[in-house]
This record gives sequence, structure tokens and C-alpha cells, in this order.
Amino acid sequence: MTSVEIKVLVFGATGRTGRLILKHLMTASTPTTVYKVTAVARNPSALNDHPDVQNSNLTVIKGCLNDEEQIKTLVSLHNIVIFAAGLGLLDGQRPNEFYSRSAKWIYQSINEAQKSNPNQPKIKFVCITSLGLNNDPERMNRLYKWTLKIWLQPCYDDMAIMEKTFLNNNDDVNYIFVRPAYLNDRIPDKELRVDMDGKPPLDEVNGLGRQLNRNVLAKFIVNDCVASDKYDRNVLGVTY
Ligand SMILES: NC(=O)c1ccc[n+]([C@@H]2O[C@H](COP(=O)([O-])OP(=O)(O)OC[C@H]3O[C@@H](n4cnc5c(N)ncnc54)[C@H](OP(=O)(O)O)[C@@H]3O)[C@@H](O)[C@H]2O)c1
Repeated sequence: MTSVEIKVLVFGATGRTGRLILKHLMTASTPTTVYKVTAVARNPSALNDHPDVQNSNLTVIKGCLNDEEQIKTLVSLHNIVIFAAGLGLLDGQRPNEFYSRSAKWIYQSINEAQKSNPNQPKIKFVCITSLGLNNDPERMNRLYKWTLKIWLQPCYDDMAIMEKTFLNNNDDVNYIFVRPAYLNDRIPDKELRVDMDGKPPLDEVNGLGRQLNRNVLAKFIVNDCVASDKYDRNVLGVTY
């Protein structure tokens, strides 16, 4: 049986969600589809203790999201680009262009690659942003609204530009933005809910979703966004 090779690039691979995305990618291959993964790390040795570091389907390379030329070259050589990188709480409170600049370079690279090789499969961008981008007051926890939402607004403003770079584009550039709620690894795995308008899910049984853990998010990214096209060209709000 012949198998198709899908090349996946992961930015933020050393992060808490990124490491789990690598784990789920390593078990996602089937007899017909093999995922060949490139993990980008500013410090590759940070992945030395990853359980899959010896897996022949995983390659770790040194790279940084500040390097335009490197980003563009890497993106053009892959089929799926996952963005799980992020600024910490401190840097997220200062005005920055971390997300918008990365998005601009990634978008340009995908667009140029697709235009120069129209017969090649399209490249898909799967990106984690945040439910902090939701501005619907009906779907906002009050404590959050007056604390983290204000402190991290510079980060959310830049993430909004990141999403806009891709949204409704006319270049046939495929994307999925996944906006998670607060990531809390102390809570057990359970099924997540998805809101197709990028808002915190709300229903009569479970109320307003506020959090989920990183393993469930990583599994969703791999099984429902990488290995499936059902959410293509959507912005999703995800919580328990
Ligand atoms: N934490 C939350 O509650 C929460 C809620 C909603 C959304 N999010 C978003 O979810 C995503 C993942 O969160 P997380 O908590 O798993 O992240 P994390 O553990 O803080 O990891 C962040 C990752 O980004 C990488 N990174 C930072 N600057 C970089 C640069 N210039 N070049 C390349 N890589 C760089 C880090 O690399 P190094 O290892 O080299 O530092 C690390 O791999 C982030 O986009 C975050 O904004 C988080």
C-alpha cells in the first residue's frame, strides 16, 4: 500500500502545548498517511527529554520567529504549519508585533509558494490565538473582563491583526484559528466544546466555558484541525 507524506511544521514546539502537539502528531500517522514533523526551537536541547525525540518522523531544528528568511523558507517546504508559540504573561502586557509579524511572513510565504507551484497541494495554517479576542460582553466572565483582559490587551490587539491577515483572504490560503480559554493543566481531560464564531461556548447544560487543559487542546489541533478539513477557514472558540 502506498502512503502519502504530510510535512508538518511546528512553531512553539518547546512550549507546554507545542510539546503535546508533537506527542499527538507522532501517533497520528495511518497506513495511508504519514506525518513528517519539523519542530522549530530556539533552543533544540529543550526537547532532549521529549519522549518522541528519537522518532524518525520527528526532526528538531534551531530556529526563531524573528528570522524572516528562515521562516519563509521553512513554511514553503511544508504542507501544514502549526503556530503554538506565544509570549508569556509579562511580555504579553507590552505592545508587541510578535504575532502580526509572524503572521505576515507566514502568509506571504504560503501565498508565494502556492502561486509559484499551483499544482502542489495547498498549505494549511493552524494557529492558536486566544479567547481573549472575544469582545462579546454576554460571553465574558466579569472577573476576567476587569483583570486579565485589560492587562493582556496589547497581546490581544496584536493577535487580532494576526487573524485578520488570513481571514476571508482571496488568495485561497487555508487557515484555522483556534481560540482557547484559560489553559489549566491541573484539571482532568474531558471533551471540549467548539464555538464556530470564535466565542466562549455557551449552552444550557454546561453554561459558559472558561478553561481546558493543554492535552485536550493539542489532541484537538492534531485530530480535528491537522488530520481533518472540517474546520478549515474558521475561527473557533474552544473550552470545556
Ligand atoms: N496560557 C494560557 O492560558 C493561554 C490561553 C489562551 C491562549 N494561549 C495561547 O496558547 C499558545 C500556547 O500557549 P502555551 O502556554 O502552551 O505556551 P508556552 O508554554 O508559554 O510556550 C510558548 C512557546 O513559544 C515559543 N516562542 C516564544 N518566542 C519565540 C520566538 N521569538 N521564536 C520562536 N519561538 C518562540 C517558546 O519558545 P522557547 O521555549 O524558546 O521560549 C515556546 O515554545 C500561545 O499562543 C498562547 O498565547 C494561552
